[in-house]
Amino acid sequence: MATPIDVVIMAAGKGTRMKSTRPKVLHRLGGRALLAHVIDCAARLSARQAVVITGHGAMEVEAACARVADAKDPFGHDLGLKFVRQEPQLGTGHAVQQALPLLADDGVTLVLSGDVPLTQAATLQALLDQSDGQRLALLTLKMADPTGYGRIVRAGDQASAQVRAIVEHKDASEAQRAIHEIYSGIMAVPTRLLRGWLARLDNKNAQNEYYLTDIVKFAVADGVAVVAHQITDAAQVAGVNSPVQLAELERVYQLRQATALMEQGVRLADPARLDVRGTLACGQDVEIDVNCVFEGRVSLGDRVHVGANCVIANATIAAGAVIHPFTHIDGEKLGVQVGEGALIGPFARLRPGANLGAEVHIGNFVEVKNSTLARGAKANHLAYLGDATVGERVNYGAGSITANYDGANKHRTVIEADVHIGSNCVLVAPITIGQGGTVGGGSTITRDTPPGVLTVARAKQVSIANWKRPVKQPKG
Ligand code: UD1
Ligand code: MG
Repeated sequence: MATPIDVVIMAAGKGTRMKSTRPKVLHRLGGRALLAHVIDCAARLSARQAVVITGHGAMEVEAACARVADAKDPFGHDLGLKFVRQEPQLGTGHAVQQALPLLADDGVTLVLSGDVPLTQAATLQALLDQSDGQRLALLTLKMADPTGYGRIVRAGDQASAQVRAIVEHKDASEAQRAIHEIYSGIMAVPTRLLRGWLARLDNKNAQNEYYLTDIVKFAVADGVAVVAHQITDAAQVAGVNSPVQLAELERVYQLRQATALMEQGVRLADPARLDVRGTLACGQDVEIDVNCVFEGRVSLGDRVHVGANCVIANATIAAGAVIHPFTHIDGEKLGVQVGEGALIGPFARLRPGANLGAEVHIGNFVEVKNSTLARGAKANHLAYLGDATVGERVNYGAGSITANYDGANKHRTVIEADVHIGSNCVLVAPITIGQGGTVGGGSTITRDTPPGVLTVARAKQVSIANWKRPVKQPKG
């Protein structure tokens, strides 16, 4: 049987260089907390638990993690999430010591950092395989500029030479600083061995910290094999310490998502100008123009086209629909549904509960909220539909609005099939416009209208023949 995996995520550090009141691990990458990416990765490994070590901003971090854990796990894994506090923060070795009471000796401990969001599960699995429940396995990388990192010190010059120690930059000699192979901060270690080694740590070093990295020399002294699993993809071990690094990793992350979409057949006008801050599912022959942002859960059906500069969140767009440029869609919790072949925008706004049927047209400067529009209904210019039920083929004129709010309560407007609402009408809810009826332009409708007839509610037009314009009186 494979050795059980316990993940320890270090997240107690302050993140001074972010210059933010928010704990570092809660800064967002791809719309989610850095720490959420790490937790997701742990979930993919079928770890039996993940222990998060918190310190700075502990309450906030723990509350945010609980929300991640409550959210539906996209991988179907059940990851037990636990927290331990590290106060004060005396170093990475001290951090892992705090987790020991929760770690059983039959497992392997995988140490991760909450501020390293882009490690891939396959990389960690390879590291775990190298450890095989017996060895100390370190994830390493060669860096052109290794300044600041712990160096991998080997017994000889050869790349395959035995690893002897990790020496922190601040403690390293000139010769050691010339080493380009660095420790990523990620290791897999048999827990029973880890326990003994952590008990032997001291803080006699340049930073007076208890270094987790010191366990390497204990392993060597005890004759336990130490293996370095060296990778070449620096982004996988890159940490976030500053807003600049956060922005760099955001681009790496976005390019990964764009590449995955294109490999699936999605045509992106420019993969560098796409932002997916959540999950974007696409059918066949989907085309997305530049500068679009997708948030939450968005699904685009076959042949959907999204024009430039659209922001689409929490929405399901059915096959063949076209979202013209500068459209803003946000379904929030209720979601937005756009039917097959619908035409939306440019400059349209769809809000929570907008449920549009097939072939619906929503044009420029039209806002739709919590409303159902049946097949073929159209609102093409400058209009508001809130809390409305709109029948098939209704034509809703320019400048018309549903007055759905009386200052205290919201009321529904029902517009039955084949109704024609003229321009600049106010429909004061609750109200029903009968099937096939027409409402004359400029009407304020306060009572239900009968089906099939023209209803007009505005002052009668009069022309006054002998009326004279006022004229200015001469001065003096
Ligand atoms: C650490 C490694 C170094 C490696 C580098 C990779 C040690 C001693 N050094 O250095 O070899 O090259 O990572 O990025 O481990 N943390 C706590 N409690 C603490 C201290 C840190 O939870 O008391 C957390 C931090 O929040 C962070 C992680 O541990 O998530 C790493 O800490 P950091 O101070 O950044 O370690 P480095 O000095 O960068
Ligand atoms: Mg660091």
